[in-house]
Formats: sequence, structure tokens, C-alpha cells
Amino acid sequence: MRERLVFCDLDTLETNYLSEFISQGRVPQNLFYLLNGATVFYSYRNDDLAQIAWEDEYRFFKEQEFWRKDLRIAFVSLGCGNAGPEKMLLRQMQADGYELHYVGVDSSESMLELAAENLNEDTYRQSFVLADFSDPAFAGQLHEVVQEDHVRVFAMIGGTFGNFDQMHVAGLLENLVPPRDYLYLDVVPTQPTEHQNAKLRMRLSHLPDNLSGFFDRLLGALGLSRELGEILREERSDGALETLRFTFSFRATERIQLSCLDVEMVLEPGQTVELFTIRAYEPASLAAFMADREFELVDTYAPDVGNLSHRWQRLLFSRAG
Ligand SMILES: C[S@@+](CC[C@H](N)C(=O)[O-])C[C@H]1O[C@@H](n2cnc3c(N)ncnc32)[C@H](O)[C@@H]1O
Repeated sequence: MRERLVFCDLDTLETNYLSEFISQGRVPQNLFYLLNGATVFYSYRNDDLAQIAWEDEYRFFKEQEFWRKDLRIAFVSLGCGNAGPEKMLLRQMQADGYELHYVGVDSSESMLELAAENLNEDTYRQSFVLADFSDPAFAGQLHEVVQEDHVRVFAMIGGTFGNFDQMHVAGLLENLVPPRDYLYLDVVPTQPTEHQNAKLRMRLSHLPDNLSGFFDRLLGALGLSRELGEILREERSDGALETLRFTFSFRATERIQLSCLDVEMVLEPGQTVELFTIRAYEPASLAAFMADREFELVDTYAPDVGNLSHRWQRLLFSRAG
């Protein structure tokens, strides 16, 4: 069974994101994907995904005590994108006789279309949900979708967790994940040595150049371009949470008449717009941060990532009951 659920009005979403952009000079990160960024994002992300060993993820879940054939497992992907990262895990699960309910949530319609297409050949129950997971009403709406499943795993895959203000996203997850359910985070880990971290820092700080197609597409959709300004990168600390954090902004070098989704605004020379934040985490510090919010670390692993330039770390938490 496949269903498509709409828990938001797309026009209202766009208007809300734009007003945040205009009033706070900051691009809400899902505006990237709303403005047709889906295809551009996967033009590089799909190559990365092909290198990450899904078999490691499958082995990891099979070792968990709740991963049982007599239970219906809901896998809720928050910001599912094209569902590419979880596709093979779910397919193999079904082939081995597990009962599944996949729930892909995204605020971008084009991402959800890619996800539905990607899982087209799979026959387990699938719910594609168009929603903003930051919306206070969303927790109740999502609960209705998964209340009949026996176990729920809420996943944030592909670094999505690291794009948000950490207090905000942790609070949101506290609200979304019911007691005794599971949270699965996929983050970029920091490295054990200073030398390796220097390389990681270099890699992260050059994201707008390495992913120029993605950034330039967004700048273009906002009516900005690199000729009219410069991209700033700033490394900021996250306090007690040990991360490598980079925030990228655009600073106008001339007066820019900006237009986005039919709204006009002016950027004066020197004015900045915050574009994007990314993080790499020290896993033990992330576990401690989440423990303060009643998420207990159950297990963690780092999948084989082939030739990728940085690693991924997956952490599974259980919400205290
Ligand atoms: C970094 S991408 C990751 C996509 C996918 N999980 C992957 O690993 O390839 C972040 C995704 O989260 C979605 N997203 C961001 N903020 C969201 C929000 N507030 N509500 C729903 N989806 C959101 C974006 O549209 C985008 O598809």
C-alpha cells in the first residue's frame, strides 16, 4: 500500500520561509530544496550514496533486539530526500521477511516525488508525507500515521541534523519521538587525530566551492550570484557540544535588487545573508548532548564509505520511557 499525505500548504510554507529569509537575513535550509534544488543535490549525493555500504547498516539493525520479524517496524525518515540512503536496507529487510512501514517526510514536493520513484519497485507499506517537521502540529499528525506500528525508528539521515540550530532540532526530536521509540542519526564524525581533523576542516570549509552547482543554483534562485558579492565562511563553536561547525553567508559587494518567489528586496553593499550551516561531531559529545534530552545511546557504527573524502557515523538512541 502506498499513500501520499499532505500536512502543509505549500504556498504557506514558501511564504513562511521567505518571511524568515527577509526578516532574519537567513535562508531556512529547506528553501534550498524547495527551489528545485532536489535534482542538483542528488547529482552529487547519489554518487556518494553508491559508496556507502548499506550492508553494514543492515547488519547493524539486525543486531538490535527490537528488529524482529513478529513486529511491524516503522522507519520514519525525517527529511527523506530521494529515500536513496535507506532504500537498500528496507529492500533487504523485506526480502528477509520483516514487516515494514516506510514513512518518508519532506517539505519539498520534488524530493518526495524522487523518493516515490526510487521506491517504486518495493511493495512494503509506504507513506510519503509532505510536511514541515518543525511545525508544532506535525508531531500529532505523524503519530496518527505510525500509531499502529509496533516499533518506530525516527531517522535523520545525510547530515540533516547538523544543518539546524542544535537546541531547536533536539527540542523538536524530543517532541516527535515518543518514549521507548528510537532515533537514528547520521552525522559526519570528527577524526581521532589533529592532522585528519585539519583535512576535514579544510574539506568542510570549502563546501561552497566543492558543491558549487548546489550553491550557485540556490544563489541564482534568490537572485544572487557570486559576481555580486562574496561567500563568507565562519567557523563557530557549539559550546559544550564538540563540533566542527561552518556557517556560510553571502555578503553583497554592490547594491542588489533581490527577487525570490515574486517577493522583491534590496541588499545593500556589505549586507549579509546567512546561507547554510554544516557540522562534524565528536560522537561521545553528541551522545552526551542527546542524553541530556533523554535519548540514550543504544549503539553506533561507522559504515564503510569507500573512497569518500569524509566518513559517516550512525548513532541509534532510545527515548527514555
Ligand atoms: C541534507 S538533505 C538529506 C536528504 C536525505 N535524507 C539524504 O540523506 O540524501 C535534507 C532534506 O531535509 C529536508 N528538510 C529540511 N528541513 C525540513 C523540514 N523542516 N521539514 C521537512 N523536511 C525538511 C530537505 O527538503 C531535504 O530533502
